[in-house]
Amino acid sequence: MKKIVLMLTAVFMLLALTGCGGEKKEAAPAAKQTGTVTKKAEAAPAPATENKKILVAYFSLTGNTREVARMIQAKTGGELYEIKPEKPYPKEYGPATDIAKKEKAENARPKLAGPLPDLKQYDIILLGYPIWWYMEPMAVKTFVEAQDLSGKIILPFATSGGSDITGSEADLRKTLPNSQVKDGLLANSTGFIDSWLKENGLLK
Ligand SMILES: Cc1cc2nc3c(=O)[nH]c(=O)nc-3n(C[C@H](O)[C@H](O)[C@H](O)COP(=O)(O)O)c2cc1C
Repeated sequence: MKKIVLMLTAVFMLLALTGCGGEKKEAAPAAKQTGTVTKKAEAAPAPATENKKILVAYFSLTGNTREVARMIQAKTGGELYEIKPEKPYPKEYGPATDIAKKEKAENARPKLAGPLPDLKQYDIILLGYPIWWYMEPMAVKTFVEAQDLSGKIILPFATSGGSDITGSEADLRKTLPNSQVKDGLLANSTGFIDSWLKENGLLK
């Protein structure tokens, strides 16, 4: 009995040393597969947005959209630009809302503090804003109408108290018929930023 145990131990050790154990044989194809997957990923075609110049332009009154814009800028490596009205809104919510309401009622284009970036040099503009009465604020309209954005990819993103982004998307598409206004992101929770950027080829 002792002899048999000794013999079995020796056989096991021999198999382990020569690498012929059942477990090792199974491990080999898995390692190969990992290599193949990596190779495939390397050979994958570059996303259409590779080497494109990106601007993250945003307007924010109380800071929510600014925070999201900064996150998006850090993830995409684009340049960051804050859209600011020439005449800043009052700090208090009520008076700021009164002015915003008047601007909307008058379909105004509030003047912006300059200088504006030269938008010609950018291929993709990520455009951030708070939702104001289901729409983008009028200062954002001033911004997108200030220069020719024909042929550019526009990616809207917004924060809100609960309203969705679709009204402003539709309005931007109407305002910019010669640009590609993509489906936007309502970023009230930041959890969807990465997947949205990936969908648009801006994050691997
Ligand atoms: C003038 C004004 C109008 C607003 N209208 C809406 C609205 O229609 N729907 C909504 O969900 N939130 C509305 N809000 C809330 C803002 O969209 C929300 O607080 C947003 O996150 C603010 O972004 P900010 O901090 O970047 O300015 C409004 C806020 C203001 C000041």
